[in-house]
Amino acid sequence: MDKIGVFDFGGQYCHLIARRIRDLGVYAEIIYEPSQEYKGFILSGGPGNISEEEAPQLPEEFFNEVEVPVLGICYGHQMIAQTFGGKVERGREREYGKKTAILENSSSLFKGLNKEEQVWMSHYDQVTILPDDFDVIGSTDICGIAAYQNIHKNIFGVQFHPEVIHTINGTKILKNFLDIIGCKREWKLSQWVEKKIHELQTEIGSNRVIMAVSGGVDSTVAAALLTKAKINAHFIHVDTGLMRLNESEEVAKIFEDLGTENLHIVDAKKRFFKRLEDISDPELKRKIIGNLFIDIFEEESDRLDNFDFLGQGTIYPDRIESAQPSKHASVIKTHHNVGGLPERMKLKLIEPLNELYKDEVRKIGEMLGLPKRYIDRHPFPGPALAIRILGIVTEERVDILRKADAIVTQIIENNGIYDSLWQVFPALIPVKSVGVMGDKRTYEYILTIRAVESVDAMTADWARLDYDVLEEISTKIINKVNGVNRVLYDITSKPPGTIEYE
Ligand code: XMP
Repeated sequence: MDKIGVFDFGGQYCHLIARRIRDLGVYAEIIYEPSQEYKGFILSGGPGNISEEEAPQLPEEFFNEVEVPVLGICYGHQMIAQTFGGKVERGREREYGKKTAILENSSSLFKGLNKEEQVWMSHYDQVTILPDDFDVIGSTDICGIAAYQNIHKNIFGVQFHPEVIHTINGTKILKNFLDIIGCKREWKLSQWVEKKIHELQTEIGSNRVIMAVSGGVDSTVAAALLTKAKINAHFIHVDTGLMRLNESEEVAKIFEDLGTENLHIVDAKKRFFKRLEDISDPELKRKIIGNLFIDIFEEESDRLDNFDFLGQGTIYPDRIESAQPSKHASVIKTHHNVGGLPERMKLKLIEPLNELYKDEVRKIGEMLGLPKRYIDRHPFPGPALAIRILGIVTEERVDILRKADAIVTQIIENNGIYDSLWQVFPALIPVKSVGVMGDKRTYEYILTIRAVESVDAMTADWARLDYDVLEEISTKIINKVNGVNRVLYDITSKPPGTIEYE
């Protein structure tokens, strides 16, 4: 299968580039080293300043050795120009947002585009002098060299972001690049399912697999795939007491519908609350929950006896992010779902979804017959409601939050906006404020509502929810949930705020 390698220089849109290429029917993956196996390369954007010594670079030999087409985007565009002897300098002003670019549509990169196109810009530095043999094929009022090509070497660069939807014809540019390479469109999810089932059967055979299922999309789809492949798999669902309303019951129903009798639900509520007693530090909470989860999983595995494989619902971004935690970004939160278990359990790891993006996982879930409402659910963190209760976690607080969470979800669904949001949820701020209800003074907790729009959770914008919807949420929570007398709306984007509160 033809593949594209997308070099990650720390840009926030790096995964988006790979996803767009896959949507065009060509397999793309994130890379850090060159390799001969790729038919073409895309060099992503990045936060680095090309003139700094530590700025990520590719040596000129790279371009001579690989001999395949290369497209540089933003930082990648500047890096190529500098590598070949051009000049990159700080522009006279920052260029950010929607811009009009004048494009040379006789270039094969811009085939079928208009002379003037809306593009998405986000840069300060820019290429000011091009190397020999490079021609300008695009410009804006601020950026004289917004796109270039070297037709002899099949090298292209764009200062703007074709992968972002605000570059109206961005997908066409990426498609043109695939045409220049001559890539075969061979990446199809339906074929992937058949191939994967066959691979799982060959690799696992009659051996036994154990796997944890949280109720989230990834582990459920991975379990459905193993079930479909008729693998001898046992699934463990740990009820931590920190789950959403009726979550464990829903997991039981899904697995019943999948036709497997091997789901084991462990009631561990008491153990989780005991261990979390008096703990308020967010990272400590995450670690305690992660470790106890592993203990319980191991106990169950011993009880059920004799497994050869450990199944995990790891998806592609999890793998890349956990493999490269400190490469270009600092670790902001410990995501405990990946890692931990495999080293301790000495089982062979099986991760059927580890080359897929979330939207691909969802499509496969649908193909495998999982209910659409279930697979389109918003992401939910492993440590569950515990990291949405700022400070100490008690049963009373979880109970309040769980009820409020169900109300928020219901109202958002009823208003038909669930699918347009990346996530929406309440969090409990353990500070009490004075209110008045039925002529009586109240002194209760504050809840905050977080609703965000995002494409990949790396960045997110706070959602401009309708005032009427916000009012409905606030009124219903205060009327129905004892212990809360005030509801706030969070208007922080990411960055600077993360999506979860802890
Ligand atoms: P943050 O809070 O880092 O979250 O902006 C980004 C996305 O990741 C989810 N999240 C988690 N998912 N285990 C998970 O599986 C975790 O420990 C975890 N913490 C955060 C969060 O809901 C958001 O979608």
